[in-house]
Amino acid sequence: MVGITRTHTCGDLRPTDGGKEVVLCGWVATVRDHGGVLFADVRDRYGRTQVVFNPENRELHERAQTLRSEFVISVRGVVAVRPDGMQNAKLPTGGIEVIAREMDILNAAATPPFEVEGTAPVAQETRLKYRFIDLRRPEMQRNLFLRHKMIQCMRTYFDEQGFIDVETPLMIRSTPGGARNFLVPSRLTPGAFYGLAESPQLFKQILMVSGLDRYVQIVKCFRDEDLRADRQPEFTQLDVEMSFVEQGQIITLIEGMLARVFKQLLGKDIPTPFLRLSYDDAMLRYGCDKPDLRYGMEFREITDLGKESEFKVFRAVAEGGGEVRGFCAPGGGQIPRRGLDDLTAYVGPFGAKGLVWMRVEEGTLNSPVAKFFPPALQARLIERMGARAGDMLFFVADKPSVVLSALNELRQEVARRLKLIPPDAFALCWVLDFPLLEWNETEKRWDARHHPFTSPRAEDLDILETKPGEVKARAHDVVLNGVEIGGGSIRIHNPEVQKRVFRLLNISDEEAQSKFSFLLDALKYGAPPHGGIALGIDRLTMLLLGAESIREVIAFPKTQKGACLMTGAPAEVDPRQLKELGVRM
Ligand code: AMO
Ligand code: AMP
Repeated sequence: MVGITRTHTCGDLRPTDGGKEVVLCGWVATVRDHGGVLFADVRDRYGRTQVVFNPENRELHERAQTLRSEFVISVRGVVAVRPDGMQNAKLPTGGIEVIAREMDILNAAATPPFEVEGTAPVAQETRLKYRFIDLRRPEMQRNLFLRHKMIQCMRTYFDEQGFIDVETPLMIRSTPGGARNFLVPSRLTPGAFYGLAESPQLFKQILMVSGLDRYVQIVKCFRDEDLRADRQPEFTQLDVEMSFVEQGQIITLIEGMLARVFKQLLGKDIPTPFLRLSYDDAMLRYGCDKPDLRYGMEFREITDLGKESEFKVFRAVAEGGGEVRGFCAPGGGQIPRRGLDDLTAYVGPFGAKGLVWMRVEEGTLNSPVAKFFPPALQARLIERMGARAGDMLFFVADKPSVVLSALNELRQEVARRLKLIPPDAFALCWVLDFPLLEWNETEKRWDARHHPFTSPRAEDLDILETKPGEVKARAHDVVLNGVEIGGGSIRIHNPEVQKRVFRLLNISDEEAQSKFSFLLDALKYGAPPHGGIALGIDRLTMLLLGAESIREVIAFPKTQKGACLMTGAPAEVDPRQLKELGVRM
């Protein structure tokens, strides 16, 4: 009997351990029978070690021949230093092997549906269904470990800065104005429901009213929205709130934290302060409020030059009050005609009626529409766009919203195609001065762009009712590589302003009183000025690891349809459960 008390992990042993008697426990990663000598690699979270079964020990050798992948074993043996030329430089334990003296088979394993360390691609569904095997993969264990380290680093940072971690309820009152809530029926109050918290927003504000001053929580949030690669129905936020605080202090605090995370986890120095862009600037320069700044290709407007040209499309749009805007793709001159046709087709679904491309040569332009631009105008275009020979210019003409959204998609696609995204680059920025409201065309009303508790800028209070579309919010988003990793704001701390904003959002005084009376009350009883932010832990981990989806950094994620393929949630329930809850289907 070897037992299960390990002396070392499967990642520990080195040549300096030569001669020691050791006990290892783990999973059989591979078995290789070299006619006589049998080698088994044993794996655990810490690494893998080669174990040797010699034929001299017949009984042991025969049992070793029954080993299959993923069997759980414990082995007692002696560490042997591998001779020169026999070392495996790819493994940290590659300088040694363990000569087995005894082995216990602790558990057999059925043939796994995929190889734990195989190179063949495995279907996403299979990985999620057999997540217990998928999570055995060293890559997944590394992801979860890094996530743990990141959270550890954050907790230490906020503790040092005097923040207090307060838990807030997940089962709460469902309130309007935010994401769609998941509902939980109440057994004790038939017909009534809890909402699962989309975030601790109101509770953290109430904690400020209560004088907690600096709050932090790493917290699960629930949103019933359509899912994408960077969205899950339940996800984790680093949630922060502070009293007597200006936006700049929140920004500096988060920059300090992110710099520490990058340094501790990746050994990277990221420069602070991060670039700060206004929302308007971000839109005009990149067509999007979360620009990817790992590469350039800023937009420039050429409506005036379009007007001077003989090109009908540009002239018509320019004279009709639209705009012509575009960007210069460095080295894009190499894109072949077929690629340009693809790109033209690519922008179509984003509303662009066409795409003008111009290949930049020495001081001139090569394009089907170049003939409409006299030489002097071509030179001015090249200068305006900051282009050089070998580059490619792209232009879209339309109303501004169409131009910006089409160019935004095109810019990202061109960056991918021309491989302009440097690997391992991290580009962080803040986007500020967001509009407070957003027009909801389907419902014909204003929605809060962030949430209903975001403070308008003081200087915009006068135009709140008269020009709601022009009111700017004291909001801040932090963006990493084109992904919004966090967002927050200074909050409304005056009950009258809060009521005005509710009215703008079509939440009547009666509804506000019935659904938000606790907030309006709290604001009446001595609410300090306060503000904060929340960061998406899943998204941040995904980006730090260069993963494709947040599913890679969540132990038990859900599919696009919100299903857990391992447990089969969501699932029907027993009719008796429904009856107890007073719910009829
Ligand atoms: P917000 O809604 O912007 O702000 O959320 C903050 C951050 O959480 C992440 N996130 C998500 N991650 C994964 N899946 C989702 N479905 C998902 N939704 C959001 C994003 C986002 O930037 N209470 C406010 C914060 C505040 O004002 O302080 C809030 O929740 O990275
Ligand atoms: P047309 O005059 O429709 O044949 O278009 C001539 C060229 O202009 C084609 O390459 C179109 O892709 C392009 N084009 C047409 N409309 C637009 C537009 N709104 N913005 C940019 N390019 C356009």
